[in-house]
Amino acid sequence: MKQLIRIAQLTDMHIGETDEDVYGSPVRMQFLSALNKLKKQNLDALILSGDLAANAGEYNSYVWIKEQLKELTCPIYICLGNHDRLENLKQVFNLNLENCHEDDYYFKTKIKEHLCLFLDTSPYFLSNQQMEWLKQQSIENKEEILLFMHHPPLYCGCTFMDEKYPLKNISDVWSVIKELKNVNYIFCGHYHTERTIIKDGKNVFLTPSTMAQFDNQTSEITILHRNPSWRIIEWDGETLRTSVEYFFLFTSL
Ligand SMILES: [Fe+2]
Repeated sequence: MKQLIRIAQLTDMHIGETDEDVYGSPVRMQFLSALNKLKKQNLDALILSGDLAANAGEYNSYVWIKEQLKELTCPIYICLGNHDRLENLKQVFNLNLENCHEDDYYFKTKIKEHLCLFLDTSPYFLSNQQMEWLKQQSIENKEEILLFMHHPPLYCGCTFMDEKYPLKNISDVWSVIKELKNVNYIFCGHYHTERTIIKDGKNVFLTPSTMAQFDNQTSEITILHRNPSWRIIEWDGETLRTSVEYFFLFTSL
């Protein structure tokens, strides 16, 4: 058995350029509430899995986020969401240029002994180049791999998001992922909800946002609540334990 690691995943923070509310949420305060909880935990890594910025990769949003993260001592890894822009992220977070493949930012890393892959679905699709890379990584590395991507690679039974904002090449992506023998745990955001989908032997975990959570049963956008949330993942290479935590800032909308 390998060493146990503890990872936190924060997603869909939608931080604006100023302190003003975004989509009706005090996003900076919500993000800080989550972060302050995580700062007290013994983490091996923090994953920011996309939509860090409110709308379109606002530079000053990234500057503010980076400033808030500076006390954290663990490594931080970023996946892009559809509201992020690589050019600005690269500049502010000094992203490793070797991981920037034309317009895509994807990479692998070891967290302690454990291999993790990070994909870029920011244009609402996963490029063919990334699908080939993913297959290659799965073949070359015999160990179990944790996969992080902003958009879920399958429909999730969430009416509004499945109908309006799914990954555009979702069936192509799933046909690749379902064949990867050592990729069985996939961590996503984007849907602003907590859900686990098990299909073809794969476990897809949707992590709620720090900004707001959506109702999964309506076909129009409906906010269920605005309590910030994050995911904790514990992994020793054989057993995976994961849970979602909420900070109850609001008792009503
Ligand atoms: Fe998104």
